[in-house]
Amino acid sequence: MIDHYGRIIDYLRISVTDLCNLRCIYCMPEEGVKKLRHGDILSVEEIEEIAAAAAALGIVKIRLTGGEPLIRGGILDIVRRVAHTPGIREVAMTTNATLLPRFARKLKDAGLTRVNISVDTMDPERYREITRGGEIEDVMRGIRAAVDVGLTPIKLNAVLMGGINEENIRPLIKMTEDADFRVRFIEVMPIGECSDWNKERFVSIEKVLDEEPALRYSGTDGVSKLYRKDGSKGSVGLISPISNHFCPACNKVRVTSDGMLKPCLHSAEEIPLRGLHGEVLIAAIRNGILNKPLKHELSRDGSESRRGMNAIGG
Ligand code: 5AD
Ligand code: SF4
Repeated sequence: MIDHYGRIIDYLRISVTDLCNLRCIYCMPEEGVKKLRHGDILSVEEIEEIAAAAAALGIVKIRLTGGEPLIRGGILDIVRRVAHTPGIREVAMTTNATLLPRFARKLKDAGLTRVNISVDTMDPERYREITRGGEIEDVMRGIRAAVDVGLTPIKLNAVLMGGINEENIRPLIKMTEDADFRVRFIEVMPIGECSDWNKERFVSIEKVLDEEPALRYSGTDGVSKLYRKDGSKGSVGLISPISNHFCPACNKVRVTSDGMLKPCLHSAEEIPLRGLHGEVLIAAIRNGILNKPLKHELSRDGSESRRGMNAIGG
């Protein structure tokens, strides 16, 4: 449907859990988050109902996010039900890929179309530091599994952090040379865990172009500006939530793992969906979309959102 400002909203992101098997420094506290009680997160049936209500309002694409969606019990059932919802044409997932070797085939069979994989560096030691214990080799196996079963094209998302993974930019870009990987660099946003970080960590996405001058601008894709190196099969996307407002191009709304509709990532506004059914549920989502804010007030000073990315979904 069309919001108050004429934007077509056809994309819904649903966080299926706020837990994760990794602890990325910008996302999760070191000790992890307190597990919500089972009944506090959306059930498989509730997710299915929300997907159907959203589809009735013109949502055609759903992305399942986390935390890490693959540690959610019943994830294959969730994918299957969402993929079979009339009107839903695409079901994607954002994952850290570590569990993809086990899940890729089953996800594909359940109806998943694509995956976005979070990987901020290809360097084993740096990967361990950023994720507080993750193994890059698990991610590489996960990427291969996704390619093998055709969960493609694959986007690789890298959050750019000053002083942490700036030297790791070029090896990520190299991934786009021989295969159609779409690497996207994202400016770290001051939300949740990193809301009080030093300003040195918030570097502009322009840094990527400084590191790799051979990148040529080749258009836009949603909120990212696309670049490529001559002759490369994939592309490099630059996403700058801070230095460049892309709210006018925003086409999405989100549902948190505990069932709150968030019309804008960085606004404190949340609309409870739990306990609503049928026309009432549809009306609540319609209302949220209609009242989606024109733009977020995100700056280096922080987000107005009251929760971190692990509960909202990246
Ligand atoms: N800034 C930017 N992106 C973030 N993500 C999580 N936290 C942040 C943040 N503070 C995104 C990353 C990650 C996905 C799960 O969420 O892209 O890949
Ligand atoms: Fe897990 Fe993704 Fe958060 Fe890292 S960014 S802790 S992989 S949910």
